[in-house]
Amino acid sequence: PPRAADMKKDVRILLVGEPRVGKTSLIMSLVSEEFPEEVPPRAEEITIPADVTPERVPTHIVDYSGNEYSLVGEANVICIVYAVNNKHSIDKVGVTFFHYSWFQWSTSKVDPQLPLILVGNKSDLVEYSSMETILPIMNQYTEIETCVECSAKNLKNISELFYYAQKAVLHPTGPLYCPEEKE
Ligand code: GTP
Ligand code: MG
Repeated sequence: PPRAADMKKDVRILLVGEPRVGKTSLIMSLVSEEFPEEVPPRAEEITIPADVTPERVPTHIVDYSGNEYSLVGEANVICIVYAVNNKHSIDKVGVTFFHYSWFQWSTSKVDPQLPLILVGNKSDLVEYSSMETILPIMNQYTEIETCVECSAKNLKNISELFYYAQKAVLHPTGPLYCPEEKE
């Protein structure tokens, strides 16, 4: 079969997750390379031109708000964002996953291979890693391609996060990679 990288013209990354986990901040931090103290509820869709992305593919990043499951139909990869200091947002990952699987199943136009990435934001606020909590979820849902802890505030792992998302679309069979906390 043709490689995904040869077929995909664009990559569309959708960020979902509980309110206040930092979805909009992550996008704005990537774009401006600094942490925005004030963010709108929702970022405008941004397009990163092919020549500045690691995989040389135009990449669109879409912020999510409310229950717009219709956005899922357009996405090539979904980042489920939680906040590492917010147990509730971690507990909701499974529910969010279920909602999206259901939506995917109920609409035939959605890519059945839609990869998911777990994103633990606000790593600047805690001394510990959320990986132990997140690993059982990773093991439960094989669609979850990878997980990454990051901080919109410290700009930690931000470009990596969007690179993993791009990579999950273009090289979906890649090995499971769960980066350790790095200083
Ligand atoms: P909704 O649009 O309401 O769903 O929220 P959101 O997920 O887009 O979160 P938003 O980016 O609005 O951030 C929520 C709050 O968390 C804001 O006060 C941000 O400044 C703060 N925040 C976001 N990212 C980080 C981070 O990495 N570290 C810290 N300490 N605070 C953050
Ligand atoms: Mg927002």
